Amino acid sequence: MKICMIGTGYVGLVSGACFADLGNNVWCVDKDRSKINLLNNNHIPFYEPGLKELVIKNHSSGRLKFTDDISLAVKNSDIIFICVGTPTRKRDGSADLSHVFNVAKELSKCVNKFKIIVTKSTVPITTGDKIEKILSKKKNKKLFEVISNPEFLREGEAIRDFRFPDRIVVGSNNKKITKKLESLYEPLIKKGAVFFATNRRGAEMIKYASNAFLATKISYVNEIANLCEKANVNVEDVSIGMGLDKRIGGRFLRAGPAYGGSCFPKDTKAITVTADLFKTDLSIIKSVIKSNNKRKTLLIERVRSILSNKIKNKKIAILGVTFKPNTDDMRQSSSLILVPYLIKKGAKITYYDPSGKKSEFKKIKNVIYCKDVKNACYKADLVIIHTEWDEFKTIDFKKISKGKKFKIYDMRNLYSPQKMKDIGFSYFSIGR
Ligand code: UGA
Repeated sequence: MKICMIGTGYVGLVSGACFADLGNNVWCVDKDRSKINLLNNNHIPFYEPGLKELVIKNHSSGRLKFTDDISLAVKNSDIIFICVGTPTRKRDGSADLSHVFNVAKELSKCVNKFKIIVTKSTVPITTGDKIEKILSKKKNKKLFEVISNPEFLREGEAIRDFRFPDRIVVGSNNKKITKKLESLYEPLIKKGAVFFATNRRGAEMIKYASNAFLATKISYVNEIANLCEKANVNVEDVSIGMGLDKRIGGRFLRAGPAYGGSCFPKDTKAITVTADLFKTDLSIIKSVIKSNNKRKTLLIERVRSILSNKIKNKKIAILGVTFKPNTDDMRQSSSLILVPYLIKKGAKITYYDPSGKKSEFKKIKNVIYCKDVKNACYKADLVIIHTEWDEFKTIDFKKISKGKKFKIYDMRNLYSPQKMKDIGFSYFSIGR
């Protein structure tokens, strides 16, 4: 099929490359010419495992093309996916839809024959109706159909998630169009993905309700972890024990720092704003947002107590600063709160992240990037494991501490408390 992805962020670029890999002809469009130049030279603007190889393979085969000319791409495509960002509006926490509506306006200028216009961006319910209205102003309604096909891929696992999704959700009020999307996704459906069709608003809602539910699950287990710490219970056992009940499920029950990233914090806020507009109170999601914000302070307090309230001049090593492993994304990472706090209290910080040095810390004095775990931990008083990158799972602490036993705060429960005790480290973790 002939496809066009508008926006070359995580969703647009990953889906575009994967659709091309399934044999489709894909145009990826971005108004940022420098990004397009990078992509045309096989450089990927962000880190995502396996993406570079996939882009190079499909770009050189001619199935995947990049352009900043939206009209060229749209004219040569039958299905147009809108994949631009919907960031949080500072004013009220709602989703900023200006990029989406700008794309709709551009489309209204260049739609030449019948097109299926699909929102893959995370958009609040009724956005499809609004896109349709924008297009209807300039185009005959028969020239397009606006539908919703939310994306559920995770950063760091995006390609696997695209290829092996649990479900593909399509929201359309037109059965013929739904069939067309079903045939686009046929190779994935054949491998076991469930294709679920609903109406447009239903699909828009499923996306937000899913993200808010996952955020709720994480906050729930994080609060249970607080209780476990006080009651001397191991939260890891509790998660396993709960997750074995198929009604609950074991995934997204890992206690850790506050959830971050570009989606959960943004989408939980946006859905509560939408609900307010519909005069409905999503009180559970509102308290999840509160609980997650509180968690950032709570973990800082824990660091303070591990250091017996003496942070000044302490050398603290942080392993992993992104919001999760296998990404270079710093958005809403709890390290962005932790690091400035510790520096303000007089600590000296060294950090190592497999995805490289971070511009967010460039201007902060006494924050030094190190090239590996060993260098970051050299002469440290406290080592904080903040992100669960694979290379942090098998650190030989005895070897790298060189006799000076630092304290360890493992925010991802990567190590066994008993084993750490046996090798003589003062070890702290989450909910155990
Ligand atoms: C999330 C969803 O998982 C995707 O399904 C969705 O498509 C995406 O948002 C989106 O809307 O675009 P993502 O933000 O990439 O994906 O990352 P997650 O793996 O969901 O992690 C989010 C946060 O939750 C991270 O800070 C992670 O450390 C935390 N988390 C996750 C936990 O603390 N515990 C867990 O058990 C799982």
